[in-house]
Amino acid sequence: MNDQSSIGSEAVDQESTRNKSTMVLQAQGLSKVFIQGDRRLEILDDLDLQLQAGESVAIMGSSGVGKSTLLHLLGGLDNPSAGQVCLAGHNLSERNERQRGELRNRHLGFIYQFHHLLPEFSALENVSMPLLIRGNQIAAITAVATELLQQVGLGERLHHKPSELSGGERQRAAVARAMVGKPNCIIADEPTGNLDEATAERVFDVLLELRARHNTALLYATHDHKLAARADRVLELTHKSLRQITL
Ligand SMILES: Nc1ncnc2c1ncn2[C@@H]1O[C@H](COP(=O)(O)OP(=O)(O)O)[C@@H](O)[C@H]1O
Ligand SMILES: [Mg+2]
Repeated sequence: MNDQSSIGSEAVDQESTRNKSTMVLQAQGLSKVFIQGDRRLEILDDLDLQLQAGESVAIMGSSGVGKSTLLHLLGGLDNPSAGQVCLAGHNLSERNERQRGELRNRHLGFIYQFHHLLPEFSALENVSMPLLIRGNQIAAITAVATELLQQVGLGERLHHKPSELSGGERQRAAVARAMVGKPNCIIADEPTGNLDEATAERVFDVLLELRARHNTALLYATHDHKLAARADRVLELTHKSLRQITL
């Protein structure tokens, strides 16, 4: 599959999405119920969210309230019980699994609390992965991935495997991997939750620097007030719904 593949004029769409003040991510009436045996766990109820191009939004809320569940729905990794998610103007519920995968690959970058790098591959190979999946040319991929690893301060660690990197270095590699496809939006689930305070701040600095450079929207869940305060808007998830708060 090449770069201009099956979802038509995506490349053009992506460019125009980035340049205008458009909606990158939009959730409407989003609900999520988990059924476990005879128990119904209502996690999210009729929730709305809008993320503009280039905007950063932090999501706070106590553990178990549903932040990860919400981010999974917004990233098309799980299906809502009701409501819909539009990613760069595409309604995810109207797409099949393969199309959702393509939309994710093209428009989103993900960062998790635990780096989720593939253990048997080097930093360079891990960061190259999203572009390999797109079917880009190897030489071009290597050049872009190397440049990004340099930008996150890992220019001297290109061929290290995850087990040969420190915790902060792994998360910086994960940041580079999330950014390599120049997505419209990064979804990050407690991206620095596993790091000490100083390392967390350094990783976060790198993330904010890269997103500013590429005008990438950023939606992140965090427990950390200091990190949340760096977002354009802070939302708190309580009682299955979001409300804007001031820190
Ligand atoms: N696949 C699942 N099946 C059943 N319950 C789940 C599932 N995923 C999450 N939950 C429950 O949903 C609630 C919210 O979880 P989560 O979104 O991970 O919270 P947070 O990220 O805010 O800590 C928790 O009570 C959790 O146990
Ligand atoms: Mg979580």
